[in-house]
Amino acid sequence: MSHQPPLPLSSAPHPTATTRRDFMMLTAAGLTGIGVGAAAWPFINSMNPAADVLALSSIEVDLSPIQVGQTIKVKWRGVPVFIRNRTKEDITIAKAVPLSELRDPETDSQRTKAGHEQWLVMIGVCTHLGCIPLAGAGDFGGADHGGWFCPCHGSQYDTAGRIRKGPAPKNLVVPNYSFLSDNRIKIG
Ligand code: FES
Repeated sequence: MSHQPPLPLSSAPHPTATTRRDFMMLTAAGLTGIGVGAAAWPFINSMNPAADVLALSSIEVDLSPIQVGQTIKVKWRGVPVFIRNRTKEDITIAKAVPLSELRDPETDSQRTKAGHEQWLVMIGVCTHLGCIPLAGAGDFGGADHGGWFCPCHGSQYDTAGRIRKGPAPKNLVVPNYSFLSDNRIKIG
C-alpha cells in the first residue's frame, strides 16, 4: 500500500478556493458588462435627436413681409421650401386647369389651405432628380405654365406647383404645415 504524502498547504485545494475564483470571474464579467454598458450609452444616446435637431424639425415662418406675387425660400430639415404669395391671376389659372390635363392630378384646393388659398407652400425639390426649380419661371424662358422651371432637364410646374411638362413624374411636394395665425405658419 503506497503512502501518499500530504500536499503542501500552499498547493492544497482550499475549501473556498473555487468559490473565490468564481467570485473573481463573476466580478470581472460584471465589470465587463459595465464596460459594455458604458460604451453603449454614448451610442444609444447618439441615436436620440439632439435638441437643436428637434427644434429644426419644425419651423415657424412670418408671412407678413412676403408681397403679393413674391416667392421666398426657407430651409427646413435641410431642404428648400418655397412659399409664394400668389396673385389672383395665379389662383384663377390654377383653378381653371381640368384634372384630366394633369399628370399627377390634384386640385388647387388640395394643395392649399382653406381660407388661405393665396399661400402656396411646397418643398422646392424637383420630383425628377432633385434639382431646385426656379421660381418666376416665365423669366427664364421655356416655361408655359407660369410657375416653376427646373433648369436641369426642363420640367415645368404650374402656379399650384403641379407638374405640367418635362420628365418629372410628380407635383412639387406640399409639406405638412398649419396656420398659427393669418400671417404665421408652422412647417413640420
Ligand atoms: S431634376 Fe428637374 S427636370 Fe430633372
